[in-house]
Amino acid sequence: MAEKSFAAALNEQISNEFAASQQYVAAAVYYDTETLPRLAAFFYRQALEEREHAMIMIRYLLDVGESVEIPDIKAVPTTYADGSEPVKMALEQEKRVSQEIFSLFELARELKDYRAEQFLQWFVKEQVEEVALMGDLLNVVERSRENLLLAEDFIAREKMGEEGADPTAPPAADEAE
Ligand code: FEO
Repeated sequence: MAEKSFAAALNEQISNEFAASQQYVAAAVYYDTETLPRLAAFFYRQALEEREHAMIMIRYLLDVGESVEIPDIKAVPTTYADGSEPVKMALEQEKRVSQEIFSLFELARELKDYRAEQFLQWFVKEQVEEVALMGDLLNVVERSRENLLLAEDFIAREKMGEEGADPTAPPAADEAE
């Protein structure tokens, strides 16, 4: 028998998503301080996406009649050794989140919670995209290590991370029903 309920595990993931959002705000602030506005904008957008992930999970718990816990906010550093470090951190974070989503998926299967399993499908796809995006960005910043203005040009030209809202995303708690 599973050690915890799916709702408890999803509440933990809501905390992880808000933490990821904070982490990306910190990365954005770092790049903003370094006058690298495209990298800053990229991470401000990612921060909003992570908040959106938390809101989608909150909507799901509300819809299935479970209680929602809103976590404490922990401080995160806004200084980094160099311009590629925030992206390395972000790639590691996205890989970790993928594993967390897989664990939730396994729990849903173990509990035979079919609606939870179906709910998580979108997150499995989303994590493939997010890991790929951060991997691409890491290539770009590492190639531009001596001059991050080259990365700024690339991000602007290729509109990295500007795909806009995904119409297949499940509903979020803060959107009108
Ligand atoms: Fe919500 Fe990028 O994981």
